[in-house]
Amino acid sequence: MSEEVRNALEQARSEALERIAAATDLASLDEAKVRVLGRKAPLSRARGALGKLEEEERRSVGKLANEVQGAIEAAVEERRQLFEAAELEQRWERERVDVTLPGVPVEVAPLHPLTQTVWEIVDIFIGLGYRVAEGPEAELSIYNFDALNTPPAHPARSPLDTFYIEGTDERVCLRTQTSPIQMRTLEDQAPPVYVVAPGRCFRRDTVDATHLNVFTQIEGLAVDSGITMADLKGTLQLFAREVFGKGLDTRFRPHYFPFTEPSAEMDVQCFNCRGAGCRICKQEGWIEILGCGMVHPYLFEWSRDHAHSDEIRAAYASERFTGFAFGMGAERIAALAHGVNDIRYFWENDLRFLEQFRALV
Ligand code: DAH
Repeated sequence: MSEEVRNALEQARSEALERIAAATDLASLDEAKVRVLGRKAPLSRARGALGKLEEEERRSVGKLANEVQGAIEAAVEERRQLFEAAELEQRWERERVDVTLPGVPVEVAPLHPLTQTVWEIVDIFIGLGYRVAEGPEAELSIYNFDALNTPPAHPARSPLDTFYIEGTDERVCLRTQTSPIQMRTLEDQAPPVYVVAPGRCFRRDTVDATHLNVFTQIEGLAVDSGITMADLKGTLQLFAREVFGKGLDTRFRPHYFPFTEPSAEMDVQCFNCRGAGCRICKQEGWIEILGCGMVHPYLFEWSRDHAHSDEIRAAYASERFTGFAFGMGAERIAALAHGVNDIRYFWENDLRFLEQFRALV
């Protein structure tokens, strides 16, 4: 009887070792393990027979059974380590990364050249302590004209020049300038006020190389006690030097705007001929870049009368404020800064034009 069990155990051992050796990967090894060590495996069946042996024999055959089981388990374990090492090796191979290979270039769209110019200009004023103000594109005529001291019969109010919103009796227009943001700021905030206000404007102009129906302005407003025209000139000269370079002179010519007194236009020396006269500056040697002036007292009266808080009214009652304002066309400045001879390019969305500004960001 004990001989039979010993044979069965040896048989189970050799069969098991064969099966384990035949496994080709972790999955087939797991399957083999169930067959050689599981409840229905020859080893387990042989162990079952141990109970029928005499005490003495059972001990020595039992020892053999334990030895066989240990040998099979060791074989499984050895094979598993082999397969795991091979799998790891394969994974290394599969997931190998050559960090010295050139990367896949990612195309990042740069900002539109006009946006770049606007941000650059706004940044200059932020550096001087200004904050950014905004206003609606569809604006009340009161803000676009009346509050800005524009008389009822002023030609700019004509529906031939200004887009009015239908059905509003000309009470609502598409703003023709960013200047109404001055009034929205002043009725909302007591001086000192230092704001720049970029925004889209609309006019019923005939479109050509220097005119658009939709264009961009940047407004500026500084109101404080003791502001003089010297502050206006110093600020705008600094701005022009930042945008056009240190070598170019600026000049101020008297002009008229209803909302400033005195008013002026600022020219910058032609970047192309530096004053000698050329095609770009139409032989003038100078290029007009903005309108400006000292804030008209009418605007302060209006702000006091329409103030949104007592604090603002109190400020105007207790102190005499002065200020300066300016407004520039962003397409114009962008064209001058980049040597572009037709501002329509900025609105045509032609990639052949836009891609030339790729390097700038
Ligand atoms: N709003 C004027 C225009 O569109 C430009 C301008 C001139 C703005 C003088 C100002 C200013 O703030 O002071 O022609």
